[in-house]
Amino acid sequence: MRIGLLTGGGDCPGLNAVIRAVVVAGDVRYGDRCVGFLDGWLGAIEGRTIELDPDRCRGILSRGGTILGSSRTNPFATPDGPDRVMATIEDLSLDAVVAIGGDDTLGVAAGLADRGLAVVGVPKTIDNDLPGTEVTFGFDTAVQIVTDAIDRLQTTAESHHRVMVCEVMGRNVGHIATHAGIAGGAAEILVPEVPFSIDEVCERLRRRHQRGRYFSTVVVAEGALPEDGEDLVAAQAARSPAAGTDQFGHARLGGIGNFLAFEIERRTGFETRATVLGHIQRGGTPTAYDRVLATRFGAEALAALHDGDSGVMVALVAGQIERLPLSEARGTPKTVDRHLLDDVAAAYLG
Ligand code: F6P
Repeated sequence: MRIGLLTGGGDCPGLNAVIRAVVVAGDVRYGDRCVGFLDGWLGAIEGRTIELDPDRCRGILSRGGTILGSSRTNPFATPDGPDRVMATIEDLSLDAVVAIGGDDTLGVAAGLADRGLAVVGVPKTIDNDLPGTEVTFGFDTAVQIVTDAIDRLQTTAESHHRVMVCEVMGRNVGHIATHAGIAGGAAEILVPEVPFSIDEVCERLRRRHQRGRYFSTVVVAEGALPEDGEDLVAAQAARSPAAGTDQFGHARLGGIGNFLAFEIERRTGFETRATVLGHIQRGGTPTAYDRVLATRFGAEALAALHDGDSGVMVALVAGQIERLPLSEARGTPKTVDRHLLDDVAAAYLG
């Protein structure tokens, strides 16, 4: 088979492990030849590609990012985009495509499958919000990075008797905040799924101080909002040079950490600092868990292509790798298990 691969959307650790699995297993087991589109769907539109063979994949298993580059390009945002992608695939005589990405990238793949493209999706995102799969690779690495950061914030918070607010990624869900907050023993975990009251957060921090805990770490997801937070969003959007959305309609989030740190200090009098971890959470070496999951996904995507399956995505379901319709990726985002917040985290918070 001649197989095209691409990585789309925000990068995450583990992408190279998927590429390697498809290219190397394809070569060894089936004699496949692979081509990589550069910069996601943009390379497919513009016909920018590189040949991929096992030599090209040497040493990439442990490398973060993606050797193919990525972008948030949506071929369906322009009238001739989908036709140009299909024309590139025909020019290259490709039999099928493996699209590695989040809901946007896989949504495009589903649209092209409807036009007759043989395509299998591989779900990725540090946010872990993709429906259908229990976990996406990249998430475990991000949680480990944030946990390490919280550990470091705890010691300096303790030295200076400060409140440390740590803003983390996750878009409109709080998986990273919740898992890293529990792992790091944060005093507060604030997520988009549960609008919070700043006054109540301040009250809980005061009570901690009264109990002799003179420092606290507050983990806040970038999409979390106070109960009366609509004004905050509007104000941030107006101020931000990043105002506007990408080709899939996503606004750029961020800013809640600094806002919250300011409000906590103003309302409690406790010295407070904010740390915004940003893209550090997406960079660098994948954890062993993410390397294994990404490799399993890649191997299954290849098997699906050779079984003649198309319009499917691979997914982790009850610990096993399964194939689901690509449309699953466009379902309602997976939100935080409330049991984790209400029972597990709450068991020692407050
Ligand atoms: O979806 C992954 C993610 O890292 C989100 O957590 C974050 O909101 C967004 O991407 C950041 O996107 P960009 O890299 O375009 O700034």
